[in-house]
Amino acid sequence: MATTPDPLLEPAPGTLPDEDDDDALRRSAEAGESSRASRHWWDRNADEYQDEHGEFLGDDRFTWCPEGLDEGEARLLGDPASWKGADILEIGAGAAQCSRWLAARGARPVALDISYRQLQHSRRIDLGRGGPVVPVVQADAAVLPFADGSFDLACSAYGAVPFSADTEGLMREVHRVLRPGGRWVFSVTHPIRWAFPDEPGVEGLTATASYFDRTPYVEQDEQGRATYVEHHRTLGDRVRELTGAGFRLLDLVEPEWPEGHEQEWGGWSPLRGRLFPGTAIFVSQRD
Ligand SMILES: C[S@@+](CC[C@H](N)C(=O)[O-])C[C@H]1O[C@@H](n2cnc3c(N)ncnc32)[C@H](O)[C@@H]1O
Repeated sequence: MATTPDPLLEPAPGTLPDEDDDDALRRSAEAGESSRASRHWWDRNADEYQDEHGEFLGDDRFTWCPEGLDEGEARLLGDPASWKGADILEIGAGAAQCSRWLAARGARPVALDISYRQLQHSRRIDLGRGGPVVPVVQADAAVLPFADGSFDLACSAYGAVPFSADTEGLMREVHRVLRPGGRWVFSVTHPIRWAFPDEPGVEGLTATASYFDRTPYVEQDEQGRATYVEHHRTLGDRVRELTGAGFRLLDLVEPEWPEGHEQEWGGWSPLRGRLFPGTAIFVSQRD
C-alpha cells in the first residue's frame, strides 16, 4: 500500500550547496544577515550535526553542554513537580531532544528553531519511536510567533542566543511570551572562550584575542555574504541584557569538566575544560 510522504521529511526548500572555501573573519553582521546565515547553515549542516552529536545528545536527553551536565542532575528549571502540564518553550531546539525529555515528565513543550532541517530531525526521531510527537515551530527567536504570556518556562541549550545579533531584543521577546514568575534558562559558549582559538589542543590554551572585542565571528562566501555567524557578549553584557528585559538573575552556572569524561566536541576538550570554563548557563526568572 502506498504511503503519503510526510512533508516534514522532504528536503528543505531552497537549501544551498555546501561551501567549503568560505573565509572566516571578524566583522559586523546585522540581524537579518545573521538570521539568514543561520537558517541556511543549519539547514545544510543539520544532517552532519545530528550524525556527529546525535548519540551524545540522545533522542530524549536534556543536556546543557558538551561538559555533559544534564537537567535531571542540575535542576536549573526548578522543581520537576511544577512541570506537569506546564507550557515550555525550547528555543533553538534542533532535533528537540530536550523537549522530548520534558514531555516524558509531563510537560507540554513546543520546540522552536529557525532551521527546517533541524526540525525534520525532530520529526524523524518521533516517527522512529512511534510515541508522542513534539510540536515544532519554524521561526526566528528574534520574533516569537506566540501571544504574550503563553509559556510557564523557556529554555535553550546553545540554541539561537549565540547566533542572534540582537540578543537584547531576544531577551525582551522571551520575557513577553513568559507568564509572571516563569524561568528563562539558557546555555552558551562561556564568553572567556572568545579570547582563545577554538581548538581542543594546546593551541587553544593561549589567549590571542580580546575578551572585550564584540565583533562577530563570520564565515562568508566569495560574494562576501555571511554563511555562518556567531555573536559574542561578555558576562556583564548578558547580565545587563537579562535585567534590562525584566529578568532577575538567579544563578550563573559554569559546569566543570567531569572526571572520566573524555569526549571532545569541537573546541571543548578535557584538556581545556579542566583549566577554564567552556559553558555559561544563565538561570533567570521573569518578575
Ligand atoms: C548548537 S544547535 C543547538 C540545538 C540543540 N539545543 C542541541 O543541543 O543540539 C543551535 C540551534 O539554534 C538554531 N538557531 C540558530 N539561530 C536561530 C534563531 N535566530 N532562531 C531560532 N533558532 C536558531 C539552529 O538552527 C540550531 O538548531
